[in-house]
Amino acid sequence: MTGDTPENQPAGPDRRFPTGFLWGAATAAYQVEGAAAEDGRGPSIWDTFCRTPGKVRNGDNGDTAVDHYHRYRDDVALMAELGLGAYRFSVSWPRVQPTGRGPAVPAGLDFYQRLTDELLAHGITPVATLYHWDLPQALQDAGGWPERDTAERFGEYAALVAEALGDRVPIWTTLNEPWCSAFLGYGSGVHAPGHTDPVAALRAAHHLNLAHGRAVSALRAALPATAQVSITHNLHEVRPLTDSAGDADAVRRIDALSNRVFTGPLFDGAYPQDLLSDTAALTDWAFVQDGDLACVSAPIDFLGVNYYVPTVVSSGLTGERGADGHLPSDHSPWPGSDHVAFHRPPGEQTAMGWVVDPSGLHDLLRRVHRDRPGLPLMITENGAAFDDYVTPEGAVHDPERIRYLHGHLDAVHRAIEDGVDVRGYFQWSLLDNFEWAYGYGKRFGMVYVDYLTQRRVPKASARWYSEVARTGVLPA
Ligand code: NOJ
Repeated sequence: MTGDTPENQPAGPDRRFPTGFLWGAATAAYQVEGAAAEDGRGPSIWDTFCRTPGKVRNGDNGDTAVDHYHRYRDDVALMAELGLGAYRFSVSWPRVQPTGRGPAVPAGLDFYQRLTDELLAHGITPVATLYHWDLPQALQDAGGWPERDTAERFGEYAALVAEALGDRVPIWTTLNEPWCSAFLGYGSGVHAPGHTDPVAALRAAHHLNLAHGRAVSALRAALPATAQVSITHNLHEVRPLTDSAGDADAVRRIDALSNRVFTGPLFDGAYPQDLLSDTAALTDWAFVQDGDLACVSAPIDFLGVNYYVPTVVSSGLTGERGADGHLPSDHSPWPGSDHVAFHRPPGEQTAMGWVVDPSGLHDLLRRVHRDRPGLPLMITENGAAFDDYVTPEGAVHDPERIRYLHGHLDAVHRAIEDGVDVRGYFQWSLLDNFEWAYGYGKRFGMVYVDYLTQRRVPKASARWYSEVARTGVLPA
């Protein structure tokens, strides 16, 4: 343990995680790679969005990001030094298919082959996500996720990546947080492509579900039987402000629009009835075609869960814009739920203004386990942004992050003790990086990045996490 370890951690015995538990860190292509115009990469919706005035703080963009595309060898060496067992990265669709269609660009795939080879050479398990929000702009020009064709194109893209990496990547995730792609991208408009059309958001949600199904078929066809296939959702832990019936109904609505809109098709092969009636004034869901739900509900090997903050709701209009953990917008990301209000619970907050509440993760894991017994889970993201800086001595002290990680790992461990099958934990993020609409202003990394020099400085929390990963034990 480092001198930064806070003293107010819960007392108690050390907690040992199961043998084989994966300890990792995560990144995403657009947030870290840079090299935006190299080796034939085409533009994505985030390149376009970043160039739209007023959309991204400070006018930041991912052109250079943290230059992971060129520095991946050093970054993998750093992961090895930190004792990480796994690295979750995403493949950039426009690097592989610049317009989202047609043959793969060999140089684009080659980067991911080199990256995975480097990881394997260091004994680090590669975990590949096929889509972390960087839709080829050409597909957006043809309508984007609200159009069915985008799902079909995604299935073809998945096949190309599986063919190139299937012999060396053992763990696969189709989509990262499709809720954000659909509802922040096409509903509230705070993410690319920045549209504000509730019907488009619902259409996008279905076509993302379908894209997942198409990708699962493609992956199963190309990968060895031992490969594990999953999807990552930012499941919302939705809590009522009071125990009134109205607030319970607000929870039901937001649970439908954030969680069950995905888990219904995925696990039950059906959209929830209450979701269909809540949104009936907007759409009759005729874009769901025969056979779609059978495709979407093909079995997966585990569910990826990203968790940061619980969501507190009430019925009525008096709440706080952005208190649902997402950027405030003049437009709602919640189609058909105009009378739900969002509240920021009291307590310590991260630099994102997100309350620190590990009990949300514990409750979420227990709930998923209760609803889907036997389903293996993986924490594919958890972490926190704080206003980190390098001291004159060259260190980054981040006791708040250590406290955050400690609390959330304790929550994971308690869930495992309760019988929940959690297979691994990936900290978001390996490196400080481009935090979407917040630009480079929010630092989530376990490793600090000086954006002028690209120098990497492991924060105190990286050393702390390294010890937990090496020993598989969370200290008291
Ligand atoms: C979830 C997203 O997957 C990731 O891209 C983002 O940086 C983190 N949340 C933090 O907001």
